[in-house]
Amino acid sequence: MKQFIREDLQNIKPYSSARDEFSGEAAIWLDANENSLVTEYNRYPDPLQRKLKAKVAEIKSINVENLFIGNGSDEVLDLLLRLICKPFQDTIAFFDPSYGMYEVLARINGLSIKRIPLNEQFEPDWSKLVELITGTRVFIICNPNNPTGNLFSREEIGSVLRAYEGVVIIDEAYIDFNDQPSMSELINDFPNLIVVQTLSKAYGMAGLRVGMAIANVEWISALNTIKPPYNVSSLVQETALALLDSTDWKTIIPTIISERKRVSEVLKKQIGVLEVFPSEANFILFRVADVNKLYRYLADAGVVVRNRSTQTNCADTLRVTIGTEAENNRFLTLLKQFYNDEAKSIIY
Ligand SMILES: Cc1ncc(COP(=O)(O)O)c(C=O)c1O
Repeated sequence: MKQFIREDLQNIKPYSSARDEFSGEAAIWLDANENSLVTEYNRYPDPLQRKLKAKVAEIKSINVENLFIGNGSDEVLDLLLRLICKPFQDTIAFFDPSYGMYEVLARINGLSIKRIPLNEQFEPDWSKLVELITGTRVFIICNPNNPTGNLFSREEIGSVLRAYEGVVIIDEAYIDFNDQPSMSELINDFPNLIVVQTLSKAYGMAGLRVGMAIANVEWISALNTIKPPYNVSSLVQETALALLDSTDWKTIIPTIISERKRVSEVLKKQIGVLEVFPSEANFILFRVADVNKLYRYLADAGVVVRNRSTQTNCADTLRVTIGTEAENNRFLTLLKQFYNDEAKSIIY
């Protein structure tokens, strides 16, 4: 696995914080230049987020040694690219369309980009994929994909993992909204596999910024050597832990999934909606007549969706996130009103 790490970072000595150098109990802490005159949040957080990690590992049914936590999965992806790729030399590959941050992170890290086109149903040509990504250092697969909502086949991804000489990062931000097991099951079979997940979506903590990498222990230790020492604040660690303990995820996630199914069925019957793409995530991409006018109409009525029309193969599409039942109903009612009004204006 060491061959996947940037050569100049392979033997880097990590920053050693006060909390790394002394981790036992003490009556008086005078080692980290903190402010003892203040009593709340005056101490640096646990750099390795041990309590939060134990809970996340339990929920995700993984070993705690295979878990790295970052300030949102955007930070985790950034650290991974920095760890693996040589600036101004390496190229990363990802599907087009996919999550827009991959391009931004490539640019920030001085990396070239290879876009792998998806067809009109948002599938790649799997038979040519390995050939297309050969020579790139990292291949990021967003599964399920954003903004399209579709899941890629585990078998096809498995073939890529076996044949590709670079690192495969699978971004599973939306994996909890479907029945497909996480590819994190395979981290000890493939040294070139890293799975990235987040508490921002199914676990509703986008505001807290908790993302994670799930990988073999060597990857976790490499990430720990390059991360900012206190990348997840005490407040976030405590709050995320309390929410994971107290929220009824077993009800919330299935409710979002059943709302997605309902909204999708209503959309399919709506005049003016030309295509509804199957979704395994907490959003639906759909194609409509008069996309810009509809977008404005919804926004003027206070309902903001995402116009994805400029993305490859996404002409005339909107992406709607699944909200509460009442929010979804308001969105569907406005959509109906819009096309009823449009129809009237054509007739008279
Ligand atoms: C595919 C994908 N990956 C990662 C992220 C970022 O998640 P986080 O909030 O953990 O940074 C998003 C957010 O929209 C996303 O859609």
